[in-house]
Amino acid sequence: MKTIEEIKQHKNQNEPLVCLTAYTARIAQILDKHCDMLLVGDSLAMVLYGMENTRGVTLDIMINHGKAVMRGAKDTCVIVDMPFGTYEDNPAQALKNAQRVMNETGCAGVKLEGGEEIAPAIALLVSNDIPVIGHIGLLPQSAEDAGGFKVQGKTDDGQQQLLKDAKAVEAAGASAMVIEATIDSVSALITEAVSIPTIGIGASAACDGQILVTEDMLGITGEHVPKFVKQYAHVSEGIEKAVATYAQEVRKRNFPGEANLYKKKAS
Ligand code: KIV
Repeated sequence: MKTIEEIKQHKNQNEPLVCLTAYTARIAQILDKHCDMLLVGDSLAMVLYGMENTRGVTLDIMINHGKAVMRGAKDTCVIVDMPFGTYEDNPAQALKNAQRVMNETGCAGVKLEGGEEIAPAIALLVSNDIPVIGHIGLLPQSAEDAGGFKVQGKTDDGQQQLLKDAKAVEAAGASAMVIEATIDSVSALITEAVSIPTIGIGASAACDGQILVTEDMLGITGEHVPKFVKQYAHVSEGIEKAVATYAQEVRKRNFPGEANLYKKKAS
């Protein structure tokens, strides 16, 4: 299994890190041979559970999906998101909950959203041997409080803040950081400025790696597809077609057919 050290060493490499989200064992199995890192993202709130945002996800939910992904992944480095309300109050809270995630799932590390304000929690986790992936830029867990889901770093002040956040996450000992929804030039600047890999989502091809929500890139999620997503397949359409054919065959008694029936043993 790829270690967090191998991810960390992947800075300024010709070949960027390939990362995707995974929430289930079977998807992890399929992605495993193609990816360097799998993230059990709290985006599962919307993608799997139909919630409005990521805030309804509990630590138990993340741990259950973390265990499932660990069963399916053989070679990739598996990271589990710390959900909203489990790490922001104080570093001790973050440590207690991150220890649960690590111990119960066996994953390689956890991801925390936030910049300067979350650096003390990152530092405490790292000093307790818990590898951390940071997450700066657009922070889905707190986006609604911060004025909505907006591209970050568009102004000089915004750019300066992002740079400070990136530096704080790096100084706290994070192994890598996700940069979400920032303008291309700012992501490139941050990538240049820090010594740990940056993993972009709606960021820049200059990042040291890229991540997408798997269901988004497969075309399984709903109508609204963010600009930064490229759909490599339209799986929903395939499902739709298969289910329509199944329904039609059942209604016409064409399914089950001869090939699907059990027969009495010839005597
Ligand atoms: O929850 C998530 O899926 C994420 C992204 C970086 C894809 O945090």
